Amino acid sequence: MQKTIINTILAAALGVACASANATVKVGFMLPYSGTYAKLGEAIENGFKLYVAEQGGKLAGQDIEYFKVDDESDPSKATENANRLIKRDQVDILVGTVHSGVALALAKAAKESDTTLIIPNAGADAITGPLCSKEVFRTSFTNWQPGYAMGQVAHEKGYKTAITITWNYAAGKEATDGFKEGFEKLGGKVVKRLMLPFPKVEFQSLLTEIAAEKPDAVFTFFAGGGAVKFVKDYADAGLGKTIPLLGSGFLTDGTLEAQGAAAQGLLTTLHYADGLDNPKDKAFRADYTKTYPDIAPDVYAVQGYDAAQLLATGLNAVKGDASKKDAMRGAMQGATIDSPRGTFKLSKAGNPIQDIYLREVQGLKNQVIGVAAKALADPARGCKL
Ligand code: BEZ
Repeated sequence: MQKTIINTILAAALGVACASANATVKVGFMLPYSGTYAKLGEAIENGFKLYVAEQGGKLAGQDIEYFKVDDESDPSKATENANRLIKRDQVDILVGTVHSGVALALAKAAKESDTTLIIPNAGADAITGPLCSKEVFRTSFTNWQPGYAMGQVAHEKGYKTAITITWNYAAGKEATDGFKEGFEKLGGKVVKRLMLPFPKVEFQSLLTEIAAEKPDAVFTFFAGGGAVKFVKDYADAGLGKTIPLLGSGFLTDGTLEAQGAAAQGLLTTLHYADGLDNPKDKAFRADYTKTYPDIAPDVYAVQGYDAAQLLATGLNAVKGDASKKDAMRGAMQGATIDSPRGTFKLSKAGNPIQDIYLREVQGLKNQVIGVAAKALADPARGCKL
């Protein structure tokens, strides 16, 4: 009898030991690995994995097992792609994505399945606005943040009128809404809002409209491959010399080599920049460059890196047990992230409260030249947490 009890205790102890030796945290990347945002997805994954590597390949003592889905920046496939990770692979944590339209569906799937989601880019305002939820965190920005800050800068530069031009989907609409709000609050006027479908890059007729209208400035949201083409077309149309082009910083992040001379001198606003001169950024850049010698660190890599830092904070609080969701999420919500962009905390809605830098393209750098908005919090309109 006594022997049986001892055997049972031993077996249970061994079982526990085996389970903890084999324990892994399953992380599902839902990112674009093809199309106009492919490079952005790659940089996010690089940044995330860099942080994990810096911790010796484990977070809170657990191995990390990765699962990947290429979301193609296609909202029509988003629910199916999310369910591949949630239902088929049964991941503990979702990390995604870049495109706001895809992220809206991903956030819904995360909420419905009670899966923790860290958004390492997509800025869709609604996700940390009316759709905010305890399952969803963001290490990036809302589309409103850089746009609003640039609206204020445009006013300070003395511009009275502006035209906005962007893709017709959530990110473009919300970035230009943010610009309009910041600009018009101070007396400016957005006289025309031009849009074309995502991810189209046939800008000619719209550039002709801008030339005819002659606003004081143009504000734009484009990113990735589309941003490269837009900046070149703007310069080729001769507009660069007459009508200043302003942008959310995605216009020139990760794109400068391809944009070349056309980008020189452009002003943009973003939560990351070259020349920040803080020890965390210096260490991050040195490590990133050593690990990925052919790729320059950019905002997307920082957002991926910080997604891993946020996850580490949550996992540390539950000693690596990702099934303790409430405690893990509580720790993530209260986290202070020592980011290469500068330290930040999350708002109640789960979005970074952060400085928005004013940057100028100088050579291959988005050089910081000031702070356009200090500790800017998204208004999180409609969030009821
Ligand atoms: C977005 O869709 O939210 C987005 C895409 C690329 C860069 C920034 C934002």
